[in-house]
Amino acid sequence: RSLFKGRDFISLHDFSQAELSCILDVAKELKADQKARRPHTVLQGKTLGMIFTKSSTRTRVSFEVGMYQLGGHALFLSGRDIQLGRGETIADTARVLSRMVDGIMIRTFSHQEVLDLAEFATIPIINGLTDLLHPCQVLADLMTIQEHKGRLAGLKLAYVGDGNNMAHSLMFGCAKMGLHVSIASPQGYKPDPLIVAMAQEDAKNNGGLVEVVDDPLEAIKGADVLYTDVWASMGQEEEAKVRKAAFEGYQINSNSLKLANQSAIVLHCLPAHRGEEITDDVIEGAQSVVFDEAENRLHAQKAIMALVM
Ligand code: CP
Ligand code: NVA
Repeated sequence: RSLFKGRDFISLHDFSQAELSCILDVAKELKADQKARRPHTVLQGKTLGMIFTKSSTRTRVSFEVGMYQLGGHALFLSGRDIQLGRGETIADTARVLSRMVDGIMIRTFSHQEVLDLAEFATIPIINGLTDLLHPCQVLADLMTIQEHKGRLAGLKLAYVGDGNNMAHSLMFGCAKMGLHVSIASPQGYKPDPLIVAMAQEDAKNNGGLVEVVDDPLEAIKGADVLYTDVWASMGQEEEAKVRKAAFEGYQINSNSLKLANQSAIVLHCLPAHRGEEITDDVIEGAQSVVFDEAENRLHAQKAIMALVM
């Protein structure tokens, strides 16, 4: 476990199957500790800077509460309020914050910004979502699947919708943990072919399978986990109308449940647009575990922070 100290958490692709299993084990322990109200001081005296240039409910609250529960402190740094928003460089921000805090969580648009921050910082950088990836979410997703299914390897996860940051991180996480992940997206909204190729390579080495298909029904058939995300992500608000038309038919609804395995669970990173990518009856239904999934953000991220900081 000490091997994680000082590392960045930017992409699941950077971690081996054994390392991801280890983070999930720590998350499970921390969750049990939290439920039993056993206090922790593992990050006592440490501070996490949290840079947000996009909105957030789950990420912000889970990192801030998680830091507090581990004995540390978190600072919310809105991109609008810090000098970064007025043109101070990422490189300078990285070096200044490295002198004051013990870790940085960043949520922003460009993935390159996070890579630049990591290059210039001397403290761990945690990716709290970029346009390309959302690794913390998928760690919580894997934890949730493990809790409900008792295993990860050999399961089939169907992702229906936009080939976005969620699709990318799901491909990486599932490939590494030996799942079969099938991504169904319409033409023009497929996942980045470079990420697909990298994930397929990961899958080959870890017993997983990554495929990209056109037909949502093909992805859903025999799936143990159904996953979807919004059709228009943060920053794509003006495209919402065009996207709504393009994604017609790419919805998780009661028909999807009929085609999937009978015991399939339904995940969504939230926030959801009910009636678009998922129907209200499904997200509120017995097979939905979206609130367990949201809660697990807290436990999974506490594990990351405890290990790298
Ligand atoms: N799923 C997720 O990252 O939620 P927030 O945007 O609320 O942080
Ligand atoms: N794809 C979504 C995920 C939100 C958690 C977005 O980037 O807005």
